[in-house]
Amino acid sequence: MKVTVVGAGNVGATCADVLAYKEIVNDVVLVDIKEGFAQGKALDIWQKAPIDLYDTRTVGATNDYAATAGSDIVVITSGLPRKPGMTRDDLIATNAEIVKTVTENVVKYSPNAIIIVVSNPLDVMTYQAHITSNLPRTRVIGMAGILDTARYRAFLASELNVSPKDIQAVLMGGHGNTMVPLPRYTTVGGIPVTELIKDKAVLDAIINRTINGGGELVQLMGTSAWYAPGSAAAQMVEAIAKDQRRVFPVCMQLDGEYGIKDCYLGVPVILGKNGVEKVLELELNAEEKALLESSRGHVKEVMDVLDKMRATA
Ligand code: NAI
Ligand code: 2OP
Repeated sequence: MKVTVVGAGNVGATCADVLAYKEIVNDVVLVDIKEGFAQGKALDIWQKAPIDLYDTRTVGATNDYAATAGSDIVVITSGLPRKPGMTRDDLIATNAEIVKTVTENVVKYSPNAIIIVVSNPLDVMTYQAHITSNLPRTRVIGMAGILDTARYRAFLASELNVSPKDIQAVLMGGHGNTMVPLPRYTTVGGIPVTELIKDKAVLDAIINRTINGGGELVQLMGTSAWYAPGSAAAQMVEAIAKDQRRVFPVCMQLDGEYGIKDCYLGVPVILGKNGVEKVLELELNAEEKALLESSRGHVKEVMDVLDKMRATA
């Protein structure tokens, strides 16, 4: 199993490192446009192998997609990260061009790959990669839901002073301020979270912190997060590479699910060897449906911005 990670920056290198030390796949190719950068990161990860005891081969390439040929899965992290004061949508013009060029190169050398997009603005970059690749919608998916859900689960674990392992949750919608956490579908060791956090204000504060979770880290670090995002992307790779059929929220083009068509949003799916094996359609109440609709509206606006840019390019 061969995986390419495009972009050897914070998120890409972290993802490659997790893929290697957990021996999720045999071969990892790291690609970056910066001369020598991906080779250096890949060599560093390989030199950690005798210490951490893994044998996944990691190699790097500078903008050379021949090295990526025949990849089963490609993770695209190339693009600018958010800086303080920037929204994810501010990144659109620059990152759309990068994701387009990268996707063209990826499919040229790996026409059967499953593509996992990480670059922001996530939902619209997944759209860009999907239309550029011309692959089925089940094979071009975006990573955000696992990260956003992980933030939510981590905050709940801190509040309840329990292991994050025991918190299960689902979160839908776009990767941004209109994401839709679903407390009705959140459990702690099988117990509905509302049984353990009875004060609605406390749960609302956790949900708000989750929604602003990316921004909180940008404020603290001056750039966006990478440990959790890199691990989240690697977890998607693992589910596909090992055909685990894990249930995760991923971003994909909706085709009538949840009454939504032609928009890219996070929804719970079964992830296996073919990418999205099945979209899981939950019963949403009126409030949840309204939140999802607002998220759809926001993502559609940014998709329209991209469409206008494409029309004038
Ligand atoms: P970074 O700046 O550390 O790394 C980005 C890398 O992409 C750089 O090394 C750069 O040289 C490379 N690059 C730029 N153009 C390229 C091209 N045409 N071909 C190959 N490589 C190219 O940024 P970081 O922190 O790794 O973030 C990467 C992206 O992921 C950003 O867009 C960020 O907003 C996004 N992100 C998304 C998350 C999500 O939940 N979906 C979470 C965290 C970050
Ligand atoms: C994050 O959520 C900025 O999308 C990035 O950390």
